Amino acid sequence: MSVSATSVDQLTRVLPAASASRPSFTHRGIAFGCDYNPEQWDPRVWREDVALMARAGVDLVAINIFGWASLQGPDGLFHFDDLDEVIDLLHAHGIRVNLGTGTASPPPWLTTRHPEILPMMEDGTRRYPGGRQAWCPSSPVFRAAALELVEAVAARYGEHPAVAIWHVSNELGCHNPYCHCEVSAAAFRDWLRSRYITIDALNAAWGTSFWSQRYYDWAEILTPRATLSTYNPGQMLDYRRFSSDALRDYFRAEAEVIRRHSTLPVTTNFMVTAHVRALDYWSWADDVDIVANDHYLDHRLDAPTAELSFAADLTRGLAGGEPWLLMEHSTGAVNWQPVNVAKTPGEMMRNSLSHVARGSDGICFFQWRASLQGAEKFHSALLPHSGTQSGAWKDVLELGRAVKALEEVRGSRVVADVAVLFSWGAWWATDAENRPSAAISYLDQVHAVYRGLRDAGVTVDIVKPDSDLTRYRLVVVPCLHLVSDAEAARVEEAVAAGAHALITFYSGIVDQDDRVRPGGYPGAWRDMLGMRVEEFAPVLPGTTLALDSGARAAMWSERIVATDAEVVDRFADGPSAGLPAITHRTAANGPGSGDAWYLATMLDEPSLAALISRIVAAAGITPHPGAGADVEVVVRQSADGRTWRFVINHTKDFVEVPGHGFELLTGEPVERRLTVPPGAVRVLREEAQR
Ligand code: GLA
Repeated sequence: MSVSATSVDQLTRVLPAASASRPSFTHRGIAFGCDYNPEQWDPRVWREDVALMARAGVDLVAINIFGWASLQGPDGLFHFDDLDEVIDLLHAHGIRVNLGTGTASPPPWLTTRHPEILPMMEDGTRRYPGGRQAWCPSSPVFRAAALELVEAVAARYGEHPAVAIWHVSNELGCHNPYCHCEVSAAAFRDWLRSRYITIDALNAAWGTSFWSQRYYDWAEILTPRATLSTYNPGQMLDYRRFSSDALRDYFRAEAEVIRRHSTLPVTTNFMVTAHVRALDYWSWADDVDIVANDHYLDHRLDAPTAELSFAADLTRGLAGGEPWLLMEHSTGAVNWQPVNVAKTPGEMMRNSLSHVARGSDGICFFQWRASLQGAEKFHSALLPHSGTQSGAWKDVLELGRAVKALEEVRGSRVVADVAVLFSWGAWWATDAENRPSAAISYLDQVHAVYRGLRDAGVTVDIVKPDSDLTRYRLVVVPCLHLVSDAEAARVEEAVAAGAHALITFYSGIVDQDDRVRPGGYPGAWRDMLGMRVEEFAPVLPGTTLALDSGARAAMWSERIVATDAEVVDRFADGPSAGLPAITHRTAANGPGSGDAWYLATMLDEPSLAALISRIVAAAGITPHPGAGADVEVVVRQSADGRTWRFVINHTKDFVEVPGHGFELLTGEPVERRLTVPPGAVRVLREEAQR
């Protein structure tokens, strides 16, 4: 395979997003699916597989995710016989295909021939094949080879009746979001040129008068390769933005090829999970025809189940509130955490239906049949190593029945009165080097307030900072360190329209270029809040702080002057003793104006819960009866006004919540009280009580 100069130019141009009118993912009811890797199995096994899939009610199967090396050999010729057979088999069993483009991992023959496609780390070393995804996102050589495969797959199956949706690559940027090779550096410079137009504008944005970093020519600019001291933060921030855009541009290139051959929806699986932060999915969301996410419980976190809820709500935010697809999760343990915890009885059902409650119209898994070889042989699957004579398989059959019973929920939307602002840019800027306290982790701060709201029994939309927030009663802004003027104004508009806003510490400090807003923190909102911070005063790990009210805190304090705000609580000890820790201001600009709250420390869990409950009540929000840390209650509503109340009981006790109507999973009518057994889920189609 060779790549001509012209095709390189064509392949590296910045591609536009697809047009606004887009195909939708149509399916009967909630999709029940999985990844399937038939390449790993003998064709005799395929027959057993599709029969068992049909028995379990699996109706959407992702194939050809890692198919490249099977489809194409070093001679460049394609061999589709096996894939034809698998697709036909699935079709014959009434199972729809989520068709992978097969480009997720290049075959060894390609990287041997073109080692220049291998990603380069910040220290100049390459990463080699032998794992997966070893390709540079900006490489025209990789792109040409991959698009040749996409073209062949899309042309062959673009009109195949089994295909329901296209699955571009796999978890783009999971392992290869950053590359520092010369090709990437040139692409970074092109990206910077189109952002700043002049080198002076770049110098201003990056603050290069500091440490003698002024650039005179674009050619002097590199990706942030390993340095002796701290990086230029503006360069690093733009490199992260560029890296996200480079992979999005790659996605667009694959999607463009597919759309020439097919009118079906095109998507890719996002990783809205705890530890992957390289891609700014707000900027990707319009490119996919339906948002799809992969989620795995992370037992390294304090509250893995609350994080699942957060990730699901954020995924719904990316979908603009529309239904989305859970493209992967697991029936049991994964294989990539230090200790891979098996799911407890009923946990797979609870996890699955928590995603559905929070807006997913599909429940899919990695993977169908547990591998016998390879790096993922100890990852759980729908069909485990122990086969169908297993509790896990019985649970799968039960989940299949539950998914069918929820058919009518499809297409409905989640109802929420509270918005939490979330930003990848703020995440990158917050967790950067050399800051007041390395103990601040953006995601921990977001998770803490999210958990407080979830435990208070309210449903939350996670939204982009430049969203219209005026329809919410409460807007929570956790640790939004980096915020543009336009984004900051959205919060002020919501407060002016009558909402309550809660801003937490380290928010509103810098603008989109990571430049401090002078005059007292948080520069973005100090007038709205009626206070200013004169100095940060973080405390050392292990130090606790007390507030006058008895609330407990840690990690952070600030020296605040309340200019036009009520002091709700003060620091009782520590470096800011006697100064405000929580403030509240009722906006004075006319009738209907809302309230602005500020929290200047990291409260412990009960103290934060108490503050959040107080603000929720002040904002006039009624929590779902019976909801709490271990009982999730979420309501989905259809366009014609029907509502479904999901109650997910994570406790070992029976739970009762008020409700009247018809319970979908048991098929029984409910009069006034809905009882949910220990560890179970109930979904009530609500009816007015006569
Ligand atoms: C990701 C990938 C899958 C698989 C799973 C394992 O989600 O997309 O291919 O590796 O992780 O958890």
